[in-house]
Amino acid sequence: MKTEDYIKREEKYGAHNYHPLPVVLEKGEGAYVWDVEGKKYYDFLSAYSAVNQGHCHPKIIGALTEQANKLTLTSRAFHNSVLGEYEEYITRYFGYDKVLPMNTGVEGDETAIKLCRKWGYMKKGIKENQAKIIVCENNFHGRTITVVSMSNDHNARKDYGPYTPGFVPIPYNDLKALEKELEDPNVAGFLLEPIQGEAGVYVPDEGYLSKAYEMCKAKNVLFIADEVQTGIARTGKLLACDHEGVRPDILILGKALSGGVFPVSAILADDDIMLCIKPGQHGSTFGGNPVACKVAMAALEVVKEENLAENATYLGNIFRNEFRSIKSDMIELVRGKGLLNAVVIRPKGGKTAWDVCVAMKEKGVLAKPTHGDIIRFAPPLIINEEQMREAMELIKDAFSQFE
Ligand SMILES: Cc1ncc(COP(=O)(O)O)c(C=O)c1O
Repeated sequence: MKTEDYIKREEKYGAHNYHPLPVVLEKGEGAYVWDVEGKKYYDFLSAYSAVNQGHCHPKIIGALTEQANKLTLTSRAFHNSVLGEYEEYITRYFGYDKVLPMNTGVEGDETAIKLCRKWGYMKKGIKENQAKIIVCENNFHGRTITVVSMSNDHNARKDYGPYTPGFVPIPYNDLKALEKELEDPNVAGFLLEPIQGEAGVYVPDEGYLSKAYEMCKAKNVLFIADEVQTGIARTGKLLACDHEGVRPDILILGKALSGGVFPVSAILADDDIMLCIKPGQHGSTFGGNPVACKVAMAALEVVKEENLAENATYLGNIFRNEFRSIKSDMIELVRGKGLLNAVVIRPKGGKTAWDVCVAMKEKGVLAKPTHGDIIRFAPPLIINEEQMREAMELIKDAFSQFE
């Protein structure tokens, strides 16, 4: 079968809920992936920052296969011999009292919302069903009904109503708007992405996170950080909140928590908050399964052993400098932090960000447009300088086609 045959089969039998680039991948290793015709590419998306540790990292795959041969799933009806080890490991790693394990990123957000509301009723004394959570415009927290209820993205929301109430949207990076909404005593939490990834890698002003955190503290409101995309060394620190010394009250992790090997997500919080959820009040059949626990520990070890945060900082600077040196009037703006970056494309002669991505694919670099004319660039964090410079040459070549 050829590329077109694979694509046709997906179109015939699969729901049409995505619009992928026309490339069919069958193998991955480190920063590279190969398509079904054997062509090699640099992966500059990393499954939306899930594959920070690189494709098929031997340590993570080793942990996966070893545990998969021993015990895969018990549900939480019984204890398993790995869960406690993982819980101790991850809470020490991130410095929290407790963890609540789930699977996908959106479940992490759902869990954080539930926990925040519980806390609001049990600890803050908000009257039943009155709790509100402040959210940011242009957020992306996933796809469930409740989570799209927080969204203002037409595509993500349209015809999925009725929506879940209880969310108060404010503009991102706007402390005045936050200050105003925090006056409401029914506000239990403020949920945000420390950098808005899906919206197009919007980096807030310096000081925004720390000031927002202080304002929340002053009003007894939980600061909830969705680090599903920005966390696990992507932006040059273990967490994007670390850039401003902010320790969220509830931290949401996913994606690279497993190195892209398995759906593993989690929320972390201290006892005062986390123990508001009691037995039977929340859970998931697969959350905390032994394979996920082993995979996540291995994935987090790789982050430290291979200095991925430092590498993201170093190569992120090279990436942005190199990109800014490209002479192309299609490049309007380059922004980002660490190895989470975006380039805003100025369409030219009917050619858009999509055409640029197709041209880069032809040259051997995979990236994807987000929200129209923005291309996100997020290679695995294990990429080295030589590979980065080679990939930049391929990208430059692709842009030169439009001159
Ligand atoms: C910030 C953020 N939160 C949540 C999610 C949802 O994660 P998942 O697709 O694993 O449900 C994403 C996915 O892109 C994300 O970027």
